[in-house]
Amino acid sequence: MLSGEFSYNTFASVYERYTTMVGRVAEADETAAFLERFCKGRSALELGIGNGRVAVPLTERGVTVEGIDTSDNMLKLLAKRTSLIKAWKGNIADFNSEQRYRVVFCVYNTFMVLATREEQIACLRSAAEALDEEGVLVIEVRVPDFDGFVDGQKTTTMFVDHENTFVNTEIHDAITQNLTQTLLWFTGESVRRIPERLRYVYHQELDTMAECVGLELSERWGDWKRGAFTDASKRHVSVYRRTRLKC
Ligand SMILES: C[S@@+](CC[C@H](N)C(=O)[O-])C[C@H]1O[C@@H](n2cnc3c(N)ncnc32)[C@H](O)[C@@H]1O
Repeated sequence: MLSGEFSYNTFASVYERYTTMVGRVAEADETAAFLERFCKGRSALELGIGNGRVAVPLTERGVTVEGIDTSDNMLKLLAKRTSLIKAWKGNIADFNSEQRYRVVFCVYNTFMVLATREEQIACLRSAAEALDEEGVLVIEVRVPDFDGFVDGQKTTTMFVDHENTFVNTEIHDAITQNLTQTLLWFTGESVRRIPERLRYVYHQELDTMAECVGLELSERWGDWKRGAFTDASKRHVSVYRRTRLKC
């Protein structure tokens, strides 16, 4: 079985380079600007904080940010970048926080690393409990897309330049909504293999899971610039507020 910890401990050594190449570092400040709007002088908690790609620019905007991550190596990268962010090792599928936050956020498909429906609901429940009365949970996940899958498999060339080739292999299990994927990174000197198991979730299923733990959708966008979410969107940014309704 693949675990987020295993793959991210491996991935950590190249995470900064990878996220730079795929444009994620470039949009981190835009993400921070989106989140800052909700913070209003209060603190935020990031689920799967990684190397602080988003948390660091959010801190630079004056927000107190804390974070949870399961990977020692990712937490080490964060600690090298800043001492301003309190982060601890933990599983976002099951965490307790005595503190209450104005914003809890889980970006860049991190929610999908929870490979079962039960873990995803448990994460939403913990996140809802960590919010203060006016708090919001912000989740960014990609829209499931099965174009190009043949017999439940797909291999995609994700990025090529003079030095690097990234190939992603995916196997789809429709019963569990799992994608077992391995990112292969070829350079002139090495091949790195980064395995991961993800559970995809459609936006309406996410809304239903959120409703079950006392959250309701308040905004949904197609990107961090607040572009419309449409049937052509590749991802969504969903903002949930607390409700009293539980199912
Ligand atoms: C896609 S990366 C995102 C990192 C960072 N938030 C960003 O946007 O660049 C996912 C992060 O979640 C962490 N992670 C994976 N499974 C986790 C779990 N069950 N609990 C906590 N963190 C987890 C990984 O170690 C990794 O740092």
